[in-house]
Amino acid sequence: MNSQLRREYLDALGLKSWTLRTARGSADAPSLVIASRAQSAAPAAPAAPAAPAARSAPSPVRDVSATREAGADWEELRARVAACTRCSLSATRTQTVFGVGNPHADWLIVGEAPGAEEDRRGEPFVGRAGQLLNSMLHAIGLAREQVYIANVLKCRPPGNRDPNLTEAAECLPYLERQIALLKPKIMLAVGRIAAQNLLGTEKTLGALRQQVHRFGLSQVPLVVTYHPAYLLRTPTEKRKAWEDLKFARDVISRV
Ligand code: URA
Repeated sequence: MNSQLRREYLDALGLKSWTLRTARGSADAPSLVIASRAQSAAPAAPAAPAAPAARSAPSPVRDVSATREAGADWEELRARVAACTRCSLSATRTQTVFGVGNPHADWLIVGEAPGAEEDRRGEPFVGRAGQLLNSMLHAIGLAREQVYIANVLKCRPPGNRDPNLTEAAECLPYLERQIALLKPKIMLAVGRIAAQNLLGTEKTLGALRQQVHRFGLSQVPLVVTYHPAYLLRTPTEKRKAWEDLKFARDVISRV
């Protein structure tokens, strides 16, 4: 992507006058902190002397290959999701929102749940937040078609309320199977709900960003940033989101 185009996307993010800072002072050395649903109960250790102490709680082991949806290919999984009645959201949805993108993508973007527009169109991140997400991706040289985008929940919670524990627990195996099929090189969790559910933690988003977490037995690097809907409401945080995107790009450049 040429620099003029990149500048236009940064403008869309409201960052045109901003000078890029690198994560923890050096773009060459993203810190590595291990914390994931697949970690053992032992506290995570920093990978390098410069890395900060782990700030994420260890979480329950989940064997991705042994989850409820193991064995399903993309087509079968999509059909199972479309027919799902495992929680009460199936009664209020217009349709399920499976996920979209390149099934060979290096990047997996994970959001919270479909909103009204997504529920209507059957595709994640197609409303205003989706437009900002596209700009965020473009700012690091990624087209929407290059990545895969999915949510923790495949159905819209009424009134866009937060997912409850049952809904998340019933729906996560679908995402876990998507991850197993996709084998992404990096996961970007956008927003607190996605981050907390993927990492099995109740820590705040602020405590989770700017670290490399690991997801699943495959230990996929996972980076956390703000949800685009939050950034639309709180544009002053866009700079931090941009730091996170740069951080994630540095992480994947090392995979
Ligand atoms: N917010 C999300 O988290 N996901 C979507 O698909 C749309 C809005």
